[in-house]
Amino acid sequence: MEKKTCPDCQEKLPSHKTEETGLPAAFLRFRVSQMDVTYGGGIVAGGTVVKWFGDLATELCIRYDGDEGLLASYDLLEFKRPVHAGDYLEFTGRITKVGNRSRRIEMECYKVLAPDPDRGPTAARVLPEPELVARAHGTVVAPKPKA
Ligand SMILES: CC(C)(COP(=O)(O)OP(=O)(O)OC[C@H]1O[C@@H](n2cnc3c(N)ncnc32)[C@H](O)[C@@H]1OP(=O)(O)O)[C@@H](O)C(=O)NCCC(=O)NCCS
Repeated sequence: MEKKTCPDCQEKLPSHKTEETGLPAAFLRFRVSQMDVTYGGGIVAGGTVVKWFGDLATELCIRYDGDEGLLASYDLLEFKRPVHAGDYLEFTGRITKVGNRSRRIEMECYKVLAPDPDRGPTAARVLPEPELVARAHGTVVAPKPKA
């Protein structure tokens, strides 16, 4: 997929191909719901964030292999900021290396909008810069080719 530009703001829209390598890239964007909250203070569990990384990893594998693949390991998992209900998250990820059946993946999660409860129960704001919330590096494995 060619890189596209938003006709309104001229910002680069996410591409499904990494420019440098030509390997697949993927993108998820959504609002965190009250139903995603596990902990006090309206905080989302790290395991839920990992589930969302898994959805992105699955898309990467589908784009490369036409198969969901299986997640074999994470060798890096970092939680940098808490996630709350009402946050808008953007996940970006890419395949960085292709083995025989292994595909190395790197993914980040950014918060771009957040609730602003000091101004009122429904107030929210656009963050001046996307805030890095979590990172994950790992390996997905494609199925054995049919004999
Ligand atoms: C992932 C899994 C399919 C690999 O098993 P396998 O097919 O026997 O793997 P193999 O030993 O033949 O290795 C295949 C490739 O995966 C790589 N690999 C296997 N396990 C790995 C691990 N834990 N970490 C990184 N790479 C791994 C191998 O190095 C090899 O790479 P290559 O093809 O580039 O040479 C298997 O361990 C599995 O089913 N795990 C459970 C997966 C799962 O349920 N994930 C959660 C839901 S998605």
